[in-house]
Amino acid sequence: MYKELIGKIDKTSMPKHIAIIMDGNGRWADLQKVKRVNGHKMGVKIVREIVETAVEVGLEYLTIYAFSTENWRRSNHEVKYLLKLIMNSLVSEIDDLTANNVNIRFIGSAEELGKSYNKKVVDVCKKSWHNDGLHLNVAMNYGGRREIIDAVNNILTDFQNGKIDAKIDAEKFEDYLYTVNIPDPDLVIRTSGEERLSNFLTWQSAYAELWFTKTLWPDFSRAEFIEAILDFQKRKRRFGAR
Ligand code: IPE
Ligand code: IPE
Ligand code: MG
Repeated sequence: MYKELIGKIDKTSMPKHIAIIMDGNGRWADLQKVKRVNGHKMGVKIVREIVETAVEVGLEYLTIYAFSTENWRRSNHEVKYLLKLIMNSLVSEIDDLTANNVNIRFIGSAEELGKSYNKKVVDVCKKSWHNDGLHLNVAMNYGGRREIIDAVNNILTDFQNGKIDAKIDAEKFEDYLYTVNIPDPDLVIRTSGEERLSNFLTWQSAYAELWFTKTLWPDFSRAEFIEAILDFQKRKRRFGAR
């Protein structure tokens, strides 16, 4: 079914970068009468399918929101489970990802995750850094406001050290974001019926097309992902011009 939909994609107007807020794992688990963490576990399976589909349609950049700087507010049990699940999934998927020419990296603040967690992420991701297919960014301990504050602090440090001068424009500023060298998202998808950005790619989403679905993340599918792309292709982007 989704193969047919793929045929409808206009290859000449593909979004370059799609970003996804994968929401609704908890509600999915409630509906199934299972524990919240089982919703997260099921969510990982869908990530795999969507990454495969992104590769299949030749997408250049995919960013997935895995854990926000606000998600530490959840129970200790859920937070621990998520951190472990994300690490374990990275470790178990890295060989397949690498074989599919995917280049994976994590974006977000390194601060709360701890040295050994961050080191392991880099050590594993490194295996894929020679790849030039899909660039997969995992937003982990990511917050758009934190990213901007981190940028400002790094700019101040570089200024004090005489590395840059006192004039900053948008282009220069973007060199200090976690997403340096990554184009802005063209399309932001959010599942679960919530229609907000929840601190995701705050700077970068300024002109993104937004696409919302009521589907809970564990029920999201390849077909719906393609539908989002097809809908994007019907839109007229103006960027403020007439
Ligand atoms: C999204 O699902 C996953 C993360 C935020 C890590 P939720 O856990 O937010 O699911 P709901 O919103 O409670 O249904
Ligand atoms: C956004 O979902 C974060 C991720 C998907 C990782 P949340 O469930 O945390 O967002 P809110 O709290 O509903 O805004
Ligand atoms: Mg949620």
